[in-house]
Amino acid sequence: MAFEAIFQPINIGSVEIKNRLVAGPMNTLFAQSTAGYVNEQVLAYYAARAKGGCGLVITEAALGTRQAARFPAWSNLLCYEQSHIPGLNELVETCHDFGSRVFIQLSPGFGRQGNSPVGEPSPAPSDGVPYEITADNMPRAFRALFTKIMPSIPGPATRGMTVEEIQSEHDEFATSAELAVRAEFDGIEIHCPHGYLGQQFLSPRSNKRTDQYGGSLENRMRFIVELVQKTIAAVPPGFPVGIRLSADEHMPDGVTLDEMKVVARKLEDLDIAYIHMSSGSYEAISWLFPGDDAIMVDEAKAFKDSVSIPIIATSIHDPKTVDKVISEGKADMVSLARAHFADPEWPNKVKAGGADDIERCRRDFYCVCRFLLGLPVRCHRNTNLGREKYMPEYWRSAGAKGIEVLPRYLR
Ligand SMILES: Cc1cc2nc3c(=O)[nH]c(=O)nc-3n(C[C@H](O)[C@H](O)[C@H](O)COP(=O)(O)O)c2cc1C
Repeated sequence: MAFEAIFQPINIGSVEIKNRLVAGPMNTLFAQSTAGYVNEQVLAYYAARAKGGCGLVITEAALGTRQAARFPAWSNLLCYEQSHIPGLNELVETCHDFGSRVFIQLSPGFGRQGNSPVGEPSPAPSDGVPYEITADNMPRAFRALFTKIMPSIPGPATRGMTVEEIQSEHDEFATSAELAVRAEFDGIEIHCPHGYLGQQFLSPRSNKRTDQYGGSLENRMRFIVELVQKTIAAVPPGFPVGIRLSADEHMPDGVTLDEMKVVARKLEDLDIAYIHMSSGSYEAISWLFPGDDAIMVDEAKAFKDSVSIPIIATSIHDPKTVDKVISEGKADMVSLARAHFADPEWPNKVKAGGADDIERCRRDFYCVCRFLLGLPVRCHRNTNLGREKYMPEYWRSAGAKGIEVLPRYLR
């Protein structure tokens, strides 16, 4: 079979996944209209990705504490109180009905990359260290589009979190992880990449603290280590808890690949189930949203060589390269993000031998610009993106068979 490596099953912890393709986490802003609660468009969007044949859907970042939710990226799914759970549970059932596993990406917060609607400084590692995205760091196509609106993008003011605050935020996050288990997700991915709060603690560029959370690498990783420990302690034994990390910050004084390999090994010792790698931050935005294919493969391989848990690689849109990266052992799975906006049927088409029929993402940053302007994402290549709720093929059918009465984790 062509693309044989892609269609091999894999286990993450005890969860079997039918192939190596992940619908990557992307905030679509579709939940904005319902203030962070799952709605019909959110369900239909995920139904389309699950129906398209990927083995695993990872949701967009859902904010896991009340404080995180006060500093969103415009608007996000929420997962920190019981009222969020019925909708999230329906999202899980939808992905399962359409044949895919589903993990929730749970975020401890965005730190200096979050915005307060009322102009409050963002809780971050340190006072007075905002980010700034300059045109020099933007991929060409993005620069051409975005600098029409703003020459550079300044971040909000920051406020250093107290030690008590860090620890109570972690406790609340662990309780939210329990809620995610109750919502029947197959796993949890802790969101710490792309210069968000977890990475801000890792980075000497944003972390200027002199207490136990700043200074040496051991201190800078303490925020993530304690978060992982508390989360794993809160979920049933063996329940998969993975993490998303940027392999390298790619900025002066940023956290480096060598340091991140040490972090990866430490997290493996703590029983993290997998690492979903990415790269960069808002400041190093050409790594976060690459303008070219497969630029992070060497970094995925560096993680792969450092740990023995599964590694998910990012931003490879060409199916031949995806297959090669997996068959050469440079990563175990690949997450399709903008490629999946452009064509949710990417996996099914590749499996059926129709790789040439894929609607290819042009990496033109139209979706990213919409997102940064607070508008629901759209795609030139797929005009159905955002309209899935009107498409009956993405509705759950009546009379589903085999509904279990007991929640999975009580069986
Ligand atoms: C509109 C948009 C929203 C995103 N939201 C998230 C998110 O919630 N969590 C996350 O880890 N990555 C997020 N990403 C990053 C993607 O998962 C992915 O790492 C990035 O787009 C590069 O991969 P690609 O070339 O396949 O798009 C987002 C990307 C886009 C375009």
